[in-house]
Amino acid sequence: MKVIVAKTAGFCFGVKRAVDTVYQEIEKGGKIYTYGEIIHNEEVVKDLENKGVTVLNSKEELEQLQEGTVIIRSHGVSRDIYELINSKQGLKLVDASCPFVVKIHKIVEEESRKGKKIVVIGDEKHPEVQGIVGFSDTPVTVVQTKEEAENFENDPSQPVCIVSQTTFNLKKFEELVEIFNKKGYDINTVNTICSATEQRQSEAREIASQVDAMIVIGGKHSSNTRKLFEICSEMCRDTRLIQTLADLDSGFPDSTSCVGITAGASTPNYIIEEVQSNVRGTDF
Ligand code: F3S
Repeated sequence: MKVIVAKTAGFCFGVKRAVDTVYQEIEKGGKIYTYGEIIHNEEVVKDLENKGVTVLNSKEELEQLQEGTVIIRSHGVSRDIYELINSKQGLKLVDASCPFVVKIHKIVEEESRKGKKIVVIGDEKHPEVQGIVGFSDTPVTVVQTKEEAENFENDPSQPVCIVSQTTFNLKKFEELVEIFNKKGYDINTVNTICSATEQRQSEAREIASQVDAMIVIGGKHSSNTRKLFEICSEMCRDTRLIQTLADLDSGFPDSTSCVGITAGASTPNYIIEEVQSNVRGTDF
């Protein structure tokens, strides 16, 4: 079986930085919390739990805390969460927000202060988007579908600033921006899809177009993994989304001679290697 593994598969710079930060803080000692799971990967989260790290699942849980270190994950959080942590003397804030996300926070904060209407292209349920929305001084509209873009209406005298969730599908982003541009508003669009995502998506598209079957490895809740699955499914009918090797239960049809593998930004290397060696039929 020929196997093509994407060079961009696995931890991106921001995720690696966030995960490393947690391990460094463990070394320093004291009680460690992460605000939400540090990455969308059950294996990594379990390992951290075993080392004494506790995941805070809500603002209410954070409100109860009086002591310890709270680590902000790569997705970032809204301004009020920073304020809440900083308002408590016993809490130490360690910010592992990805610099690409911080850049979006700054744009949204500055542009909304100028009175612009902020539009975020992304998934309103995703924590990264909720964090971005939480940096605006004016009400924000989150748009994910063509229909939502078409239905968008605003005061024609108010300029609009459009940004994107870092992991949004570039092609879809461009399609949605085109719909906005036809509306005649004064629009300033900043493509804030991060380069790691862009490269990962275009490499996945290219590999999926050449292979008989494509495997996308990543966490169930990982937005960038789901986007990769979406892109690969368009190019390759036999595209499978798995979290670990254990999910790869069914074999490949006899006609399959070439399999592609890619993985989301929160997939550790060892899982990619396990899948790869299994598909190749060899062990490392
Ligand atoms: Fe940052 Fe991009 Fe990764 S925004 S967390 S480098 S996917």
